[in-house]
Amino acid sequence: MCGIIGYVGKNDAVKVLINGLKTLEYRGYDSAGIALKNKSIQVIKSVGKVSMLEDKLKTLDVIRANMGLAHTRWATHGKPSEVNAHPHVVGKVTIVHNGIIENAFELREKLEQEGVSFKTDTDTEVIAALINKYYDGDACDAIRKATDLVVGSYALGIMFDDEDYLYAIRKDSPLILGVGVDEYFMASDIAAIVNYTNKYMLLEEGEIAQISFEGINIYNSKKIVEKNILETSVVDEDKGKCGYKYYMLKEINEEPILVERAIKNFYEKIDEFPNLNDYEEIHIVACGSAMYAGMIGKTLIEENTNIQVVCEVASEYRYKRVFYNRKTLVIVISQSGETADTIAALRKAKANNIDTLAIVNVKGSTIARESKQQIYIEAGREVAVATTKAYILQVLVMALLSCKSALKLDLVKNDLEKLPRLLKEVIDRRDDYKKLAKKIFKSEDIFFIGRKIDYAISLEGSLKLKEISYIHSEAYQAGELKHGTISLIEENTPVLAIITDDDIKEKTLSNLEEVKARGALPIVICNEKIDGYQDEILLPKVSTFFQAVLVVPCLQLIAYEVAILRGCDVDKPRNLAKSVTVE
Ligand code: AGP
Repeated sequence: MCGIIGYVGKNDAVKVLINGLKTLEYRGYDSAGIALKNKSIQVIKSVGKVSMLEDKLKTLDVIRANMGLAHTRWATHGKPSEVNAHPHVVGKVTIVHNGIIENAFELREKLEQEGVSFKTDTDTEVIAALINKYYDGDACDAIRKATDLVVGSYALGIMFDDEDYLYAIRKDSPLILGVGVDEYFMASDIAAIVNYTNKYMLLEEGEIAQISFEGINIYNSKKIVEKNILETSVVDEDKGKCGYKYYMLKEINEEPILVERAIKNFYEKIDEFPNLNDYEEIHIVACGSAMYAGMIGKTLIEENTNIQVVCEVASEYRYKRVFYNRKTLVIVISQSGETADTIAALRKAKANNIDTLAIVNVKGSTIARESKQQIYIEAGREVAVATTKAYILQVLVMALLSCKSALKLDLVKNDLEKLPRLLKEVIDRRDDYKKLAKKIFKSEDIFFIGRKIDYAISLEGSLKLKEISYIHSEAYQAGELKHGTISLIEENTPVLAIITDDDIKEKTLSNLEEVKARGALPIVICNEKIDGYQDEILLPKVSTFFQAVLVVPCLQLIAYEVAILRGCDVDKPRNLAKSVTVE
């Protein structure tokens, strides 16, 4: 994900900005750049690591500056290159951007018709051109007019040739404002400035910050907004919300870089991953979302190998009569590694001398310590009670395990390379999810249906909605709904059909028609255009192995937007605990 840092103050801007970029490196990027303002603006950019930008600065005659912007880019529109790296300059405007502008193409076309010529393939340059078009000396007015035309997500740092101010504005992407002693900051992540100050202000959507050597003014439609100055405690591992409204949103936005890192780690340690073909039968045992990640694994293993898979909730498995044979593998999945039922299931397998594999996040947890073999999902600390990034990584690990055991890794290499970028595009489509959430957030019942992998996906989609919005929801095998539960379908009951498996698509569509005929509000979540449904979210198509990694974040964000509209506490839903350490 892109990182932004801006600085105005008593110190050397180059030093502050480069140090800030280095703390943002964990977000993932492919190029970096810096813009320094003295009497003029000097822009220096490079592909690759921040250290390469730093080395380049040493070879140039860099102006002495106490004001500037810097950026690490994670390419979405336009390949990674020096030209496409930020900051971008159009006329009097210099800009850095984190987010995706969904209507960039139309805006670019219109500007080109007005005579604007573009140097890059980026959506960011389009915003710069728009601001420059409206700039006649009133910076806030130009920024407001330009961003009112933009659809999508953005956090913007902006400078103008003839002003000694930095400007900031955001929508959906994070940006916080740092308040030091005779120095002021903007940053995507509070970690970028804690070495200079622990005081900060939040920039709300629609507000414009004007940062100068005298301080920070924040405007909302031309009126100055008074803001509380907040203090961050020593920034611990989770680095705070980084300007996001909730940890859950921050953690969903971490998914692309975590997926990219997990794929890289998998290939580096591929020989350490077990070959599932060494076993005749696999039991996947977990609770809640972890169990639903197991259901994805079950489907993928059974569809692609000759191994029979049982997937059970741990609270049942620990007490039921279980049939083991010598060649059984028990896989336990757990984010916390401390879930009581899953620990009990693990101990039951060990008591029967059965091999155990833990797919776990927390190192040193009970499940990590007591299992025979571990695969760590490396999700980092997950603060929101409702799991998002950990679930996605559990699914990815199951998919990679299945794919390796099925000897199909070569077939999916291209999909794996583009998966992180496609996932970021899915996550950045917040306006689509907000629009759908507005239609369904007052519903009393919401159903999810699907078949095979799409059923396994619908389980987590339904659970995420339930646990953070408190709406009753059920996930059903699409063919099963008509055997009773269809009686609950009323006028406008939303039914979300997950349709990504080509082999079974027509069957699910006919089930959707059955509920539509009874008044349901049909909503299609698919990877190929399906005609006839007004409410459809079309997602990128990838191999079935990894399709869930793109579909579930869409469902996570729909659940998030519904919960926001219902005024729920997204990070700490009622009754839920992050780790259920009791029966
Ligand atoms: C939280 O969003 C999950 N829905 C919850 O069901 C969780 O997956 C379950 O409690 C298991 O927790 P674990 O992964 O830490 O074992």
